[in-house]
Amino acid sequence: MDAFADPISHFDAWFAEARASEPNDPNAMAVASLDETGLPNLRMVLMKAYDAEGLVFYTNFESAKGRELLGQRKAAALFHWKSLRRQVRLRGAVSIVSDAEADAYFASRPRDSRIGAWASAQSRPLQGRFELEAAVAKYAARFAIGEVPRPPHWSGFRIHPETVEFWADRPFRLHDRLVYRRDADGTGWITDRLYP
Ligand SMILES: Cc1cc2nc3c(=O)[nH]c(=O)nc-3n(C[C@H](O)[C@H](O)[C@H](O)COP(=O)(O)O)c2cc1C
Repeated sequence: MDAFADPISHFDAWFAEARASEPNDPNAMAVASLDETGLPNLRMVLMKAYDAEGLVFYTNFESAKGRELLGQRKAAALFHWKSLRRQVRLRGAVSIVSDAEADAYFASRPRDSRIGAWASAQSRPLQGRFELEAAVAKYAARFAIGEVPRPPHWSGFRIHPETVEFWADRPFRLHDRLVYRRDADGTGWITDRLYP
């Protein structure tokens, strides 16, 4: 595996291949957080944007992951592209996207998804499907006319990678591993190869 100048260029190349070959959701990544006792928690999300700053996903800030990431402000994330037999893993600090960025993404979602963001008290107990459908009906009536605004508890997190590892399958488990780490002044990247 060749090293690129930075992990974003490397990710660009691999993500393009994943988009071409994955049957669905090439942007799906597992995001790990820690609860208040230090116990790791993990779930899939959809990465909606990435650039040199980091990778962005959107969620309910009152969900388990919302509360955990607001508390610890650190995350690890992992992509596994089965069709390519590759993984990308990264770790770093977490920030909240700007209101303007969250508004723009929220406005791009289908109307029913925007209603759903109001109706779902994500990660809290649900008595039954009817309770959720009643909440959807309530907010559909409330926002029957005009735009559906972004709920105050719904926004995006940006994970700012400090390390990014690219892993590619090779025969006989002699896989390729290449890690990019932020250099001492935080402006560039250094690379290391690791035993599989
Ligand atoms: C492929 C896939 C993509 C998902 N994308 C998101 C997402 O972008 N945002 C989100 O809040 N939940 C997403 N979910 C649901 C989460 O995995 C999770 O069930 C939910 O967010 C509650 O997690 P929590 O209780 O840890 O907060 C996705 C699930 C799957 C399987």
